[in-house]
Amino acid sequence: MKAQIKVGIAGLFLFVATSPVMAAGNAQAGKAKAQVCFSCHGANGASPANPAWPKLAGQHAKYIAKQLADFKKGKTRKDPAMAGQVASLSADDMANLAAFFAEQTPKAGGAAKDKVALGQRIYRGGNEKSGVAACAGCHSPNGAGNPAANFPRLSGQNAGYVVKALNDFAKGVRSNDAGSMMRTIAARMTDAEKSAVASYIEGLK
Ligand code: HEC
Ligand code: HEC
Repeated sequence: MKAQIKVGIAGLFLFVATSPVMAAGNAQAGKAKAQVCFSCHGANGASPANPAWPKLAGQHAKYIAKQLADFKKGKTRKDPAMAGQVASLSADDMANLAAFFAEQTPKAGGAAKDKVALGQRIYRGGNEKSGVAACAGCHSPNGAGNPAANFPRLSGQNAGYVVKALNDFAKGVRSNDAGSMMRTIAARMTDAEKSAVASYIEGLK
């Protein structure tokens, strides 16, 4: 697939579906390795020490393993806190950690009342004027994501972290989204839209 070719969503589904399958992890082996992650991501990844950090509990295994591999390569996704964590992890370790966190029960969050209306409008319908696609189209109406296409689960995610992720995509600091799917969308969003949709996402169940 050449980078210059603009791929449609259907093409991307095909691309994802034909990518080499990552080995299924062993959650039991992952549990032992996961203990060091709890200091930042909370016990079992459910409730991070800082609301600007991501919840991992219930996230799709394939997505988690991909992020760990991306952090290790350090090109399309970089983070000073995560760099040291992934340096010594093998692909098997990543798959095991991913399997463990995927099995954990996520902790629900809450939306700010004054942001729900705008947040819901963007999440369900996007913004036709500025060309922002509806989040629900890929991340599903309840934020469960789409594991087959590797679209991450968003429901209940910390709003502060979601805003940071959208800003990182908008600036291109994070560029590990196949086909620039998220960079294109985030770059078209206003700060008010990012903040409102992030709050709505935190309240999704
Ligand atoms: C010192 C704190 C710290 C520790 C320890 C830590 N993390 Fe992280 N982790 C972070 C931060 C901060 C981010 C958000 C980075 C960003 O903003 O992109 C993150 C992001 C992630 C993400 C991306 C989540 C997403 O939704 O995209 C994964 C996966 C992850 N960490 C897994 C782990 C695993 C597995 C461990 C243990 C081996 C671990 N982390 C240990 C701080 C930490
Ligand atoms: C065309 C499909 C598509 C649409 C539409 C879409 N996304 Fe995404 N989104 C993705 C993909 C693919 C990724 C994962 C990139 C990767 O592999 O790291 C992603 C990742 C994210 C992440 C990072 C999650 C994490 O845990 O780090 C956030 C936040 C996000 N999207 C929010 C949104 C919001 C808000 C909207 C609507 C305004 C939206 N997305 C619309 C495909 C989409």
